Amino acid sequence: MSLPRTSDVLVVGGGIIGLVTAWRAAQRGLATALVDPEPGGGAAQVAAGMLAAVTELHYGEQTLLGLNLASARRYPDFAAELTELTGHDLGYRRCGTLAVALDADDRAHLRELHALQRASGLESEWLSGRECRRLEPMLAPGVRGGLRVDGDHQIDPRRLAGALVAACERAGVVFHRAWAERLTVERERAAGCVLRDGTVLGAGQVVLAAGSLSGQLAGVPDDVLPPVRPVKGQVLRLTVPKRYAPFLSRTVRAVVRGSQVYLVPRLSGELVIGATTEELGWDTTVTAGGVYELLRDAHELVPGITELPLTETRAGLRPGSPDNAPLLGPTDLDGLLLATGHYRNGVLLTPVTGDAMAHALTTGELPEVARPFTPRRFRAAVLTEQPA
Ligand code: GLY
Repeated sequence: MSLPRTSDVLVVGGGIIGLVTAWRAAQRGLATALVDPEPGGGAAQVAAGMLAAVTELHYGEQTLLGLNLASARRYPDFAAELTELTGHDLGYRRCGTLAVALDADDRAHLRELHALQRASGLESEWLSGRECRRLEPMLAPGVRGGLRVDGDHQIDPRRLAGALVAACERAGVVFHRAWAERLTVERERAAGCVLRDGTVLGAGQVVLAAGSLSGQLAGVPDDVLPPVRPVKGQVLRLTVPKRYAPFLSRTVRAVVRGSQVYLVPRLSGELVIGATTEELGWDTTVTAGGVYELLRDAHELVPGITELPLTETRAGLRPGSPDNAPLLGPTDLDGLLLATGHYRNGVLLTPVTGDAMAHALTTGELPEVARPFTPRRFRAAVLTEQPA
């Protein structure tokens, strides 16, 4: 084994969550290293990049809504800072979202969502089918109504990942382009990692931010191992030729026969169609059935997609957690922190995660906005506590 190389912070995982954590930590003056064979890869290479705090609201996720909104509010400054620092265009588009219904069941579902949004104090306007088509003329004539949400935007996650790698490099983050093999624990404290190539890295604090792989790192004691699982999403990319532009002017989404489908139009001409939600373990196969269902549902919403070149099909793994919310901050093992389990909201939650993790790394505590997301909420003792 080579001699330990020591940093204040060692981040395991170089997806957007690991990168933003490393960047913000380095900005706070912490000597920071990051381990990943391919920094900037991971689920962000597949994700559509919707910043959809309002249109992705679900019953039972009101606490998560607070964190989602806090992150959405940070996005304009976050994107401007990253672009100014790196010169990267992030494809951040404040275009709004239209959630539409195709039949009576969809419309009932959307009415429920609208009621929940309003009860949560969110801005969302009910539109008739005709009003939806006036906004987006490519929509199918059968659209029965919709919700206009001008506050749900989008960013290009691939560009975001590239910019975060550049920002980390500028901030002096040291990249180790290798797999982490095992967490090192010394005197009941996380002390670093051993890499697959045998390199030993020492660190004052270790952040486990390996997305759906976060529960797989050897050496992490069972009682602090994050309960994350991979949730497969298949996503398609089409290209809108210039002669058809503007094909759609905002994100259009719907729940069709119980499955969500969304179309995210970029200024570059890329049109992202997503996504399946499949509990299939580590499988990232793109299947004929997955592609068929996405195209079938998207075609019902926007029939004109059949004219567009299909340029990419891909599957990624969302890091799902037991309550669909992230695990952030210190664990019961001293020196080990988590930043994982972001499930459907990793891109949206990137700014607030960076801030919360930097705060936790420098003070030992989560800021108020992130406290409900402590990994300690999954401690066995907490889970078995009975109400009096
Ligand atoms: N947030 C979109 C998805 O997870 O498919």
